Amino acid sequence: MAIAKSNHWEADRVQELPFQGTRKMLEAANKLKAEGKDIVDMTTGRPDFDTPQNIKEACKDALEAGMVHYASNYGVQELRVAIANKMKRDNGLDFSPDNEIMVTLGCVEAVSTALTTFLNPGDEVIIPMPIWLNYAYIPKMLGANIVPVLLREEKNFAVTAEDIEKCITPKTKALVLVSPNNPTGGVMLEEDLRAIAQMAVKHDFIVITDEIYEHFIYDGCKHISIATMDGMRERTVTINGVSKAYSMTGWRIGWICAEKSLIESLVRTHQYAASCATTFAQYGAIEALNGPQESVKIMTDEYDRRRKLMVDSINSMPRISCVSPKGAFYVFANVKELKMTSEEAAQFFLREAGLAAVHGSAFGDGGEGYMRMAYTTSYENIQRGLERLDSALRKL
Ligand SMILES: Cc1ncc(COP(=O)(O)O)c(C=O)c1O
Repeated sequence: MAIAKSNHWEADRVQELPFQGTRKMLEAANKLKAEGKDIVDMTTGRPDFDTPQNIKEACKDALEAGMVHYASNYGVQELRVAIANKMKRDNGLDFSPDNEIMVTLGCVEAVSTALTTFLNPGDEVIIPMPIWLNYAYIPKMLGANIVPVLLREEKNFAVTAEDIEKCITPKTKALVLVSPNNPTGGVMLEEDLRAIAQMAVKHDFIVITDEIYEHFIYDGCKHISIATMDGMRERTVTINGVSKAYSMTGWRIGWICAEKSLIESLVRTHQYAASCATTFAQYGAIEALNGPQESVKIMTDEYDRRRKLMVDSINSMPRISCVSPKGAFYVFANVKELKMTSEEAAQFFLREAGLAAVHGSAFGDGGEGYMRMAYTTSYENIQRGLERLDSALRKL
């Protein structure tokens, strides 16, 4: 649905881009906070931890050492080496730091660069929905056709090979995978990844896999990179970054790993979009990847503790329920019994419980009837917000 232009110079394609639903709820919450109301904010995927001190120190040292100039379009060489080592260590993948890794301005730029590089107008891109909206709107802006695959609660919101297969046509150019997933917390199973890999090879499409939540995974589930599977290395664009794992959302450092000829295309787009990622921030990212990894474990354990609190509390309340998410830091709660739209439910949560969450419809097809609640706020805040939500629901 096209949106009214903000001014008469605006290009037609921008009419496809709404303000994001997350932002809308965040602003509503901030307004109430400014009025002195106690609001428990579960709107954004912004970790509430500080960036570990060793990472900040590395960045300060880089600034002091004069790392304030443009870096290579591919990124600082030392960071590319750190990424190559990380990909080997955590994902079992070998990429050359010389020509198979490109550092980006966060995953956001990696995603838009990848989609821009590989999608022509009229190409079909299969996208699991609901989804983090960048994947829905950038293809639209490029004139590509989105083929949605609806994620189902009864399947724990995991993408299944069976569902993907139904969407493949001769026009399929790309498939997007986000596992662990935003907004649902779903994690893909190895057998589905394996079957999807075979389909990608057979039908010759590319897979864009966003692995930004790889470390936040629970209940013994394992993250598997699809690029490790037979025939996939040459057709996979693996996106990741430091934002979530090291609580570095403001640093804007992400990356893409792919086979040399794909990176060559990607760099050609990236040089016109960003030139390079912030040089001194890249030195912080080197320390994040090469330095001690305890902070990642501490954060993951804390998210897991919060996740259990969320799931147990929500499932003890009337008219709301949730499946236990296996990854990321979101609960995608079912609010269908409230008999209101998810947007009305979000307003109800905010007004009656001082709990800010994001309506599922903000994440595209399949999101209506759900509420995304990010457990990126303290255990105590979550307890307080959920207690208030419970009483509000019991009064309905
Ligand atoms: C699936 C997904 N990819 C990427 C991002 C953004 O990552 P970055 O901060 O590295 O741009 C987000 C942020 O919420 C996300 O949910």
